[in-house]
Amino acid sequence: MSGEKNTGRDRGEEWWRTGIIEMRPGVIRLRGYEIQDLIGRVSFPAMIWLMLRGELPSEDEAALLGIALGAAVDHGPQAPSIAIARMAATCGVGINNAMASAINVLGDVHGGAGEQALSFYGDIAAAMDGGASLGEAVSARLDRFFAEEKGYVPGLGHRFHPIDPRAPRLIELTREFAARGVVSGRFADIAEAIETDVATRKGKSIPLNIDGATAVIYGELGFPPPLTRGLFVLSRSVGILAHAWEQSQESDRNKGPLPKEWLWAYTGTPARPFPGDSD
Ligand SMILES: CC(C)(COP(=O)(O)OP(=O)(O)OC[C@H]1O[C@@H](n2cnc3c(N)ncnc32)[C@H](O)[C@@H]1OP(=O)(O)O)[C@@H](O)C(=O)NCCC(=O)NCCS
Repeated sequence: MSGEKNTGRDRGEEWWRTGIIEMRPGVIRLRGYEIQDLIGRVSFPAMIWLMLRGELPSEDEAALLGIALGAAVDHGPQAPSIAIARMAATCGVGINNAMASAINVLGDVHGGAGEQALSFYGDIAAAMDGGASLGEAVSARLDRFFAEEKGYVPGLGHRFHPIDPRAPRLIELTREFAARGVVSGRFADIAEAIETDVATRKGKSIPLNIDGATAVIYGELGFPPPLTRGLFVLSRSVGILAHAWEQSQESDRNKGPLPKEWLWAYTGTPARPFPGDSD
């Protein structure tokens, strides 16, 4: 580009490029829509959809997205993210720091099962597109999964709940939306077929959990797996904020992960004299 054309504005336009937002004094446009046309007419879930997908969802699609987002907001301080938000709040940091600390631990193991579940469902859907029946596709994917010695199928089982009370309700609602033609119901079929096949293999029921059920909804709505993790973070951030705020209103300072009368197990070298010190 010529030196003559290299104005401040050109430099800015070269530096950041985005299809999401236009902004200049007096103008804010998201995905081509004036912000003032969106305000008051577009719900928060619909705004999330517009930002991520580039188009407005139907009212039903936004409602179903809102249902999934609302279901996973909190699971209490047994969840590391929530405990971390509360501990951080007792350290005198700002609410944003408490939230960021909590969100930072939402990874493959805590909060990542939805993304893994949706990838798993996607593999099965792809096999069905290639001509396999639902049962064949599920069985082949599970054979491969267990052959790789991965014991825990993502989206099934729960440490605390024999039946995760959120999952059956979410599947019931997905079925209602499918009956009205909002979504196909395909991912609900896949998740339920996985549940049935795993129960046969293990000789006991290992029911769908919140991550498996929200992955069904996000899949039905056409979100790709990595966004599922991001959507979980948005959802759980509500609980994280509530806990950080509640804790910040209390007088505890430097609250640790255990009551002070409980200590950890020391597994190192037993107590010994410092070299050169006499016994
Ligand atoms: C969440 C989880 C850690 C809870 O595990 P848990 O109830 O403590 O389960 P345990 O490790 O005590 O396992 C109990 C039995 O159920 C089986 N089991 C539990 N979850 C399973 C799963 N997702 N897939 C296959 N088998 C599972 C175990 O293999 C074990 O079987 P065994 O008795 O034959 O050895 C586990 O279910 C899991 O990792 N699920 C997948 C990840 C996931 O979806 N996480 C989100 C949770 S909301």
